[in-house]
Amino acid sequence: MKIDGQHYRTIWLDSDDDTVVCIIDQRPLPHQFIIEALHTVDDVFVAIRDMHVRGAGLIGAAGAYGMYLAAVDAVSHDNPLAIIKRAADKLKSSRPTAVNLSYAIDKQLDCINNVLSMSDIPAKTKTLAQTIADEDAQACFSIGQHGFPLIRYLSEQKKGQPVNILTHCNAGWLAFVDHGSATAPIYASHDAGIDVHVWVDETRPRNQGSRLTAWELEQHGVPFTVITDNTGGHLMQNGLVDIVIVGSDRTTHTGDVANKIGTYLKALAAQDNDIPFYVALPSSTFDWVIQDGCKDIPIEQRDGDEVKHIQGLDGNTLKSVLLTTRESNTANYAFDVTPARLVTGLITERGICKPNKASILQLYPEKRVND
Ligand code: MRU
Repeated sequence: MKIDGQHYRTIWLDSDDDTVVCIIDQRPLPHQFIIEALHTVDDVFVAIRDMHVRGAGLIGAAGAYGMYLAAVDAVSHDNPLAIIKRAADKLKSSRPTAVNLSYAIDKQLDCINNVLSMSDIPAKTKTLAQTIADEDAQACFSIGQHGFPLIRYLSEQKKGQPVNILTHCNAGWLAFVDHGSATAPIYASHDAGIDVHVWVDETRPRNQGSRLTAWELEQHGVPFTVITDNTGGHLMQNGLVDIVIVGSDRTTHTGDVANKIGTYLKALAAQDNDIPFYVALPSSTFDWVIQDGCKDIPIEQRDGDEVKHIQGLDGNTLKSVLLTTRESNTANYAFDVTPARLVTGLITERGICKPNKASILQLYPEKRVND
């Protein structure tokens, strides 16, 4: 992705010291662009838990780099495997819903278990962290290529009039290592000269839509309009949405989709108005074990202060202000689950499939062994 014309990924190793992990701190965006250096597993844990980095793909990559930092530290101690195990458990506990985190950490654990000499684990885990990051970026690019024909078709149907796409939260390049999932087909279409316009749900309480998706789209030159979270249904009723594309934090191999809170309501409105509702995800976001997403996907509950406060600029100063009475009770569910029956299709790095076991396993036949 390009920020003010310069290419960035969302996570990388410092070119002067490869034991330092660099990230873009997403908390002050879009008002301040700050690169943060992470030196330890604890730094990575805090960065994920407190959402300096966020989004399914990026927290997976961050978890992988966190395991590399754990390996660098572990080799200078007596019982490196115990240190590695503690680091893995701690990192996994930082955010419960997105499955990419445990996917990446388990890959690192497998790699460490297969290493013959402990002195090799820093180099091996470093290579694997970079591979996981590269695969995430490549998968998102491919999602863009597979999703592009959906938008091109709508553009043809509309004889070149702008295709209106509604998206929720931030499933853009900030949520991954590059390109994004839901945004990848949008960027691919825009780059191919198709007229697109994006309705951006603000996505309370942390406003990943109005702060992050809007900023990304602006950086890329894609036309967009920020709307409050309750606006989508009205737009759909009035013919102002052609397609909904959202991301996912965990999708069961039966097609149920956990995504940012509020996604389910958009899916209901889309079905009521006969609007295609697509979910874009890399295969690292599939849960190959859980069958019933509505019952079994763990839903993160975050601090109620996120609901009670809102952050913005006061002059040039970033401030958080209280919206409610100090005593208000709050509930802050971070995700909800959209059942497969409300999803039109899944856009993956291998192509588009239906949200059901047979269709998903047709794209990922190597997963049939767990079936
Ligand atoms: O709580 P967040 O910001 O980490 O939420 C995750 C998300 O970015 C969204 O749910 C997104 O749509 C999923 S795609 C990474």
